[in-house]
Amino acid sequence: MSKKILIAGIILTCSLFSCQSQDEEKQMVEKKLFGKLAGGEEVYEYKLKNSAGAEVKIINYGATVVSLMMPDRNGKIEDVVLGYDSLEGYVNDKSYFGSIVGRYGNRIDKGKFKLDGKEYHLTLNDGENHLHGGTLGFNKALWNVDSATSSDNGSSITMSYLSKDGEEGYPGNVKLTVVYELNNDNELSINYTGTTDKPTILNPTHHSYFNLTGDPNNTILDHELMIDSDNITPVKKGLIPTGKFSTVENTPMDFSRGVRIGEFINADYAQIKLGFGYDHNWVLNKHQGLQSKVATVYEPKSGRVLEVFTDQPGMQFYSGNFLDGTVKGKNGVVYKHRTGFCLEAQNYPDSPNHSNFPSARLEPGQTYRQTTVYRFAVK
Ligand code: BGC
Repeated sequence: MSKKILIAGIILTCSLFSCQSQDEEKQMVEKKLFGKLAGGEEVYEYKLKNSAGAEVKIINYGATVVSLMMPDRNGKIEDVVLGYDSLEGYVNDKSYFGSIVGRYGNRIDKGKFKLDGKEYHLTLNDGENHLHGGTLGFNKALWNVDSATSSDNGSSITMSYLSKDGEEGYPGNVKLTVVYELNNDNELSINYTGTTDKPTILNPTHHSYFNLTGDPNNTILDHELMIDSDNITPVKKGLIPTGKFSTVENTPMDFSRGVRIGEFINADYAQIKLGFGYDHNWVLNKHQGLQSKVATVYEPKSGRVLEVFTDQPGMQFYSGNFLDGTVKGKNGVVYKHRTGFCLEAQNYPDSPNHSNFPSARLEPGQTYRQTTVYRFAVK
């Protein structure tokens, strides 16, 4: 009897965390200690692999993607995201490398918004504004690992975080669950679900900095980008939306037919100057989830292609303008200006202060949902 329980226990543990003793081929989720926080809490790294030889490493501090190994057109597998070698890097990080950001991804004007007549004041961590959930947002939280499993079609990890009522100034106890899955088609999908016990706002996003060359010493300026969008939400000083929409037609913001990122990045154009390059929200033409390809990036030297699918109404394209050669990343590489780009699927920035933007409000009893997929291929 006790032997049976022991065997059942081993099988269960193996299916949850892909035990060392399992058949090599099926051993798709490996877990190892990544580091310890100042309070002694242990942070773990989970390696998800697929049958195509791709792999992603995720830590439960910030639910952060710390490396993403993808093949180029010759089958050479290289890391296509920026990050740090150690936990200390992530603890001190101000660039949000690879993490889940929130509660509100992007900016909230002066950190203020109203819900049912009551004004809330959020942490001001970006000059006079609130950015990416504040100083202790989702990216600085220790997430609970609910499960890490592998199947015939890849592997996945489920993490959750309970953000307490009042955290960084936001109302309501919010529970966010994030499922990262790497499947055998080289798709990294991110599924979010969130609930609250008081009316609140929720708009999380994923903040990987991609460099498809596989070498972060290169800039991302030769990557070609297509965004299926005809409008941006233009910004004023401080990268806060004006509340208007403006057409991308005949402007340096037009990526609808695909263009080299570097082509117009230094153009003498007001929005580019205000963003110090590209750092804007594109209003997505389609956002029906897996049916809607909203962006394609092609890197000609490696042949790597990244396609983004989402059900979110907007996408922030950030061209790494604030990388300035002061951050030392993985393998001692110093990340220079524009050596990574982010494609952050989300609601429009500052939507709580613009009634003409889609609402980010979440009620008790409702479930926030988001699906965003980063699909890798070669050309
Ligand atoms: C924002 C940038 C910001 C960066 C932080 C991006 O999502 O749009 O303005 O500097 O995150 O690393």
